[in-house]
Amino acid sequence: MLIPRNPKRTNQNSPTHINWFPYYAGFSSEFVHDVLSSFTLRKEDTILDPWNGSGTTTTTAYRLGAKVIGCDINPVMVVAAKSALLEPGISPSLVPLSEEILHATDTIELSMANDPLSAWYTPSSAIELRRIHLAIWRALVNSDSPPSLHSRDISNMSTIAAFFLIALMRTARHFLAAFVGSNPTWIRTPDSPAKRVRPSKDSLFTHFRTEVRRMAGTLSAARANGLETSRQGASPTISMMSSTSLPFNSGSIKAVVSSPPYLTRIDYAVATKPELAALGMPLSEDFDTLRKSMIGTPSVRQNFLHPLLTGKTCDSFLKAVEKHHSKGSHNYYHKLFVQYFSDMSDSLKEIARLLVKKGNCVLVVQDSFYKEIHVDLAQFVIEIAQNKGLSLIDRHDFKWDRNMVRVNTRARKYRESAAAVESVICFRKD
Ligand SMILES: C[S@@+](CC[C@H](N)C(=O)[O-])C[C@H]1O[C@@H](n2cnc3c(N)ncnc32)[C@H](O)[C@@H]1O
Repeated sequence: MLIPRNPKRTNQNSPTHINWFPYYAGFSSEFVHDVLSSFTLRKEDTILDPWNGSGTTTTTAYRLGAKVIGCDINPVMVVAAKSALLEPGISPSLVPLSEEILHATDTIELSMANDPLSAWYTPSSAIELRRIHLAIWRALVNSDSPPSLHSRDISNMSTIAAFFLIALMRTARHFLAAFVGSNPTWIRTPDSPAKRVRPSKDSLFTHFRTEVRRMAGTLSAARANGLETSRQGASPTISMMSSTSLPFNSGSIKAVVSSPPYLTRIDYAVATKPELAALGMPLSEDFDTLRKSMIGTPSVRQNFLHPLLTGKTCDSFLKAVEKHHSKGSHNYYHKLFVQYFSDMSDSLKEIARLLVKKGNCVLVVQDSFYKEIHVDLAQFVIEIAQNKGLSLIDRHDFKWDRNMVRVNTRARKYRESAAAVESVICFRKD
């Protein structure tokens, strides 16, 4: 296989991937392009990204004319990945359409009852954002039923509906800057209702217009720079589902290109909490269910299974954590890491089942530290994958210094520098 370039995203938007929802841990479309170009793909071959995030794999593969499937368990990321597929030719219609959406909010009757956005917004502000949400839903998703987070509705949504929902999420996020501290992946909720933000309907609508204008601007600039309007290939399938159980036929996937959730204890459910609230997710039980089912979550499930032996490095890491003297290592962190290995085992088993014989799997992972213990994620994943019938064919390590160590001073103590190692690991199905 071609030696790939550093997988990290170099700039947010590129000729083949517009990204209105930049995501920590995303890789670049140039990297995906290199990897896909190194395979000999036939027209009928399908690529899969089971942890699709903001959709770099799906957009890049689509623009290259390949069949592609992307999955993610977080509805926010499914909407983001869909929005990235919007055809540039539609850009002139976006601003007029946003005016129609805002106009339609006049006809929407809503009561002030307990909106998820009222975790940060006063009820009267939250209701205005919800009106925009409903108007988008009625015009572009399903005029007969209220907004839902059912995987069917999210997975079947059009790219244009996704575009406006992202504009709504960006609007909802815009007014919450005061609740984000030095760690950009953590958002506080106000400690008393009086501290909630209260933008007027006018400010909210004006900002929504600004977001739509900006996003439409990016799309027309990309078009001017040569982003193609349409492809002959089939549209990507982007679905809300878990990598631990994928409903596709065995041997139906030619190659997997992906970046699984890392073992950095970053809470990605919390990182997208305002966006989930903007999509209407109640921030109680439903949010907890999603949070618990995300791989790498800092929340331990009650019923997870201890994995069968994963491998030498995994085992000695688990042992080191279990007997670490620090508070929480034995009772909490050990369980958390076992849960991660168990979820990765299930996911890699699915990947191995879905791949055709001799099919390729290219994964990008990053190392980290737990206290002074090195979290050698690449080696952990290699051991688990080998147990599932995937043979390692190549590994490339790159130093990367813009990682979460910078926002986590405690973790920095154990690193000589703020550099982390990003590894590209390449497997072939036996
Ligand atoms: C490292 S990110 C992928 C970033 C992506 N490569 C990009 O370019 O944006 C990992 C993704 O895995 C998703 N994820 C976490 N648990 C999952 C699960 N059980 N099934 C599917 N996706 C999951 C997260 O929502 C997140 O979007």
